[in-house]
Amino acid sequence: MSRVSNAQLPGHEVKDLGLASHGKLRIEWAEAQMPVLRLIRSRFGLERPLEGLRIAACLHVTSETANLVLTLKAAGAEVYLCASNPLSTQDDVAASLVVDGGVSVYAIKGEDNETYYRHIESVIGSLPQLTMDDGADLVSTLHQRHPDLLGGVVGGTEETTTGVIRLRAMAADGALKYPIIAVNEADTKHFFDNRYGTGQSTLDGILRATNILLAGSTFVVAGYGWCGRGVAMRARGMGANVIVTEVDPVRAIEAVMDGYRVMKMANAATIADVILTTTGDVNVVNQVHISMLKDGVIVANAGHFNDEINIPALEAAAIETRMVRDFVREYRLGDGRRVYLLADGRLVNLSAAEGHPASVMDMSFANQALSAEHMVEHSQELQCQVYVVPRDIDQEIARLKLHSLGIEIDELTPEQQRYLTSWQSGT
Ligand SMILES: NC(=O)c1ccc[n+]([C@@H]2O[C@H](COP(=O)([O-])OP(=O)(O)OC[C@H]3O[C@@H](n4cnc5c(N)ncnc54)[C@H](O)[C@@H]3O)[C@@H](O)[C@H]2O)c1
Repeated sequence: MSRVSNAQLPGHEVKDLGLASHGKLRIEWAEAQMPVLRLIRSRFGLERPLEGLRIAACLHVTSETANLVLTLKAAGAEVYLCASNPLSTQDDVAASLVVDGGVSVYAIKGEDNETYYRHIESVIGSLPQLTMDDGADLVSTLHQRHPDLLGGVVGGTEETTTGVIRLRAMAADGALKYPIIAVNEADTKHFFDNRYGTGQSTLDGILRATNILLAGSTFVVAGYGWCGRGVAMRARGMGANVIVTEVDPVRAIEAVMDGYRVMKMANAATIADVILTTTGDVNVVNQVHISMLKDGVIVANAGHFNDEINIPALEAAAIETRMVRDFVREYRLGDGRRVYLLADGRLVNLSAAEGHPASVMDMSFANQALSAEHMVEHSQELQCQVYVVPRDIDQEIARLKLHSLGIEIDELTPEQQRYLTSWQSGT
């Protein structure tokens, strides 16, 4: 148990402060693989670019996020953290952030919807000047329930594809009341985090939950975006026969030329051993598909929200449900078929495993930290819109990552620079 009395600690609601020492070790393990963020933290410690700034952050509470939060603290910010998904919190990390980091954390793994939103309200109670969101639940709650606080917010950042889509919809409606930087749109974010991070950690989540053999299985990936490409690539690497479903003809033809079978979900559902959705869309595995699934199929989701699989339809079709392993719920249907849903259809990589490896989150969270600094420096010039991460930040993060890996690349010579900006010389 923790020897720190509650009175000395910042405001919090976490599962068990006694888990702090274990969480601290995990935060240190992640830190060792986050060299770019460490460099930024050192500079922030000297320059204090976020001095006194109140940041409300709604992010997956993982060991990597803890390193981001400690970096923001080193820059002088006060950080108030809640979870961006009810199942993604690492309780020991949350405890260590409170006890060792002095950070206000409101997050408990497995919290119900009411608690999830109460925790978002708790961080809003800090009267934030900057928001850091993953999925836009914080920004949406702030705008809908606390319009009086919007004037005090200089700007925000958004981590994921689904959040960026929601925020662009808010901007198009004229509803967005402060500028946002879409961290997801940085090349050093989605090329790596969405593709290699989701690719690896999604398989990790499926395997930790089920321990199935992927080799020889028929593995359906719904959505061939950045995440879907990664999952398909890694599943094939482990010997699965991968099928892709898509609605975008360009992405579909890309999947074909990458060597996958592409078909409608209605056809894929009849032969799948595993179905993994990662589209950011709703009802991708629908009631009709559920009626066609093979006995014993495993269904999981890596998209942001738990509405890609029609869980109410699955529940309606079931005559019995039971938990058969951690994160594995069996639905026995009227005709005797069994369907296994992982992690209640929530992000399987963060629920049943630990989310992305720290090495990839190093770049994503370097983007978050530098975008927060950029937002504070430039908030006066920005409109109530969604902005991409400035190109120089993106390039600098890639440069630092390469440097940390000990990899050097060529530079353009003056002759090459002239050549690449000229039009006169041809064949
Ligand atoms: N699990 C994680 O850790 C993690 C990490 C990053 C992003 N995400 C989330 O994953 C989702 C996908 O992100 P992304 O970056 O790959 O997005 P993306 O926009 O690059 O790709 C999504 C793809 O899904 C396709 N799609 C849409 N509706 C479909 C349908 N009904 N059937 C089949 N395909 C369909 C789109 O055409 C698109 O190609 C988002 O919700 C995002 O927020 C999760």
